Amino acid sequence: MEFQFGTNWAAFSKAAGGVIGQTLAMEGVFSFFLESSSLGLFLFGEKKLGRIGHWVAAFLVFLGSWLSGYFIVATDAWMQHPIGYRIGANGAIELASFWDLLLNKWALWQYAHTMLGAAQTGCFVMGGVGAFYLLTRRDQIYGRTFVRAGVIVGTVAAILQLFPSGDMQGKLVANNQPPTLAAMEGLFESQEGAPLAILGQPDVDKRRLDNPLEVPNMLSFLTYRQWRANIKGLSDFPQTEWPDQIPLLYYSYHVMVGLGTIFIAVMALAALLQWRGKLYDSRWMLWILMVCVPLPYIANTAGWMTAELGRQPWLIYGLMRTASGISPRVAAGNAWFTLIGFMGMYTVLGILWLFLIYREIELGPEPRGHLQKDDAAVLVAD
Ligand code: HEM
Repeated sequence: MEFQFGTNWAAFSKAAGGVIGQTLAMEGVFSFFLESSSLGLFLFGEKKLGRIGHWVAAFLVFLGSWLSGYFIVATDAWMQHPIGYRIGANGAIELASFWDLLLNKWALWQYAHTMLGAAQTGCFVMGGVGAFYLLTRRDQIYGRTFVRAGVIVGTVAAILQLFPSGDMQGKLVANNQPPTLAAMEGLFESQEGAPLAILGQPDVDKRRLDNPLEVPNMLSFLTYRQWRANIKGLSDFPQTEWPDQIPLLYYSYHVMVGLGTIFIAVMALAALLQWRGKLYDSRWMLWILMVCVPLPYIANTAGWMTAELGRQPWLIYGLMRTASGISPRVAAGNAWFTLIGFMGMYTVLGILWLFLIYREIELGPEPRGHLQKDDAAVLVAD
């Protein structure tokens, strides 16, 4: 990505490099090296480091990756909501306040929301792997621990994803990018007491939502905490300010929120069963946990599509159009060529990753072939 700024986004890098270069360099210097060197220690130094040293290495991997997440999100947040800059004599965007860039309100909420998405993904993977062990009646001690940890942390993360983080993100979009909010919600005409569309298909040519299933007044309430508040529809903005891909933006947003709602229901149900001591024997619930594993990946991707499609047609909201940020000497064909190349490479890496992860799960947390005493005890008790 950082190389791509230089190759495909030369005009953007030239204009905004003085700002985004700060956070991107900090990501490299402070977090990337911390994360990668600690990962080496974590993976290969277990025997030499001892228990505490190994734990510290794991903590540093966590710290490095979460710090890295912050610097990247702060860069994106500045593109969503540029503050702390001034326009220099040659027209370049210069950094006026380092702390405004780093503590951008948008960055703080976006970071919370994004990392909760990451935590939820981890919880569903952990719960799903644990459910797999319990359903196949192997490694049951680990299976129970995985399911318990995944469900407890996952329930908290799923709720926080909706409120306050998702709610605050929505408010920031409403206040700073009102055409984006209208497009995300499929709202073409301004309305007092605007409804929240649960389902429906946006028809951009006819400027309406087909087959809508709506909750009356709810969008006004969620946005401004007033049932009759006025929400501006797309028709109130010049069409040059509309996001280019309204249907894709609308569907991405609805997929994210729809899945988020399902996650709350699944995790809350699992937590209830856990509390009542029935979770490990509820095969149907374990199946649900296992089948849900791919869904947070889809929700995260849909979330990013919402944020990035929603920012269009701006590259830096209100400051620079996406069309003005490209490299003028790189032809569209060249950009397609490298994009397809990257897609191919990531598809191969993705398949390899799935294969390796599946092999690790199959091998199990303990070397196979010797059933532990604890496991045998669980089997006898069952
Ligand atoms: C539960 C209801 C949810 C609400 C109300 C919500 C709301 C939002 C909003 C308003 C945005 C910002 C869009 C923009 O900047 O234009 C967003 C972005 C995002 N969401 Fe959600 N979201 C929810 C659930 C989820 C879930 C379940 C995940 C993943 C597991 C997720 C992951 C993301 C990601 C990765 C982004 C992009 C980064 C960002 O701008 O924060 N969201 N969400």
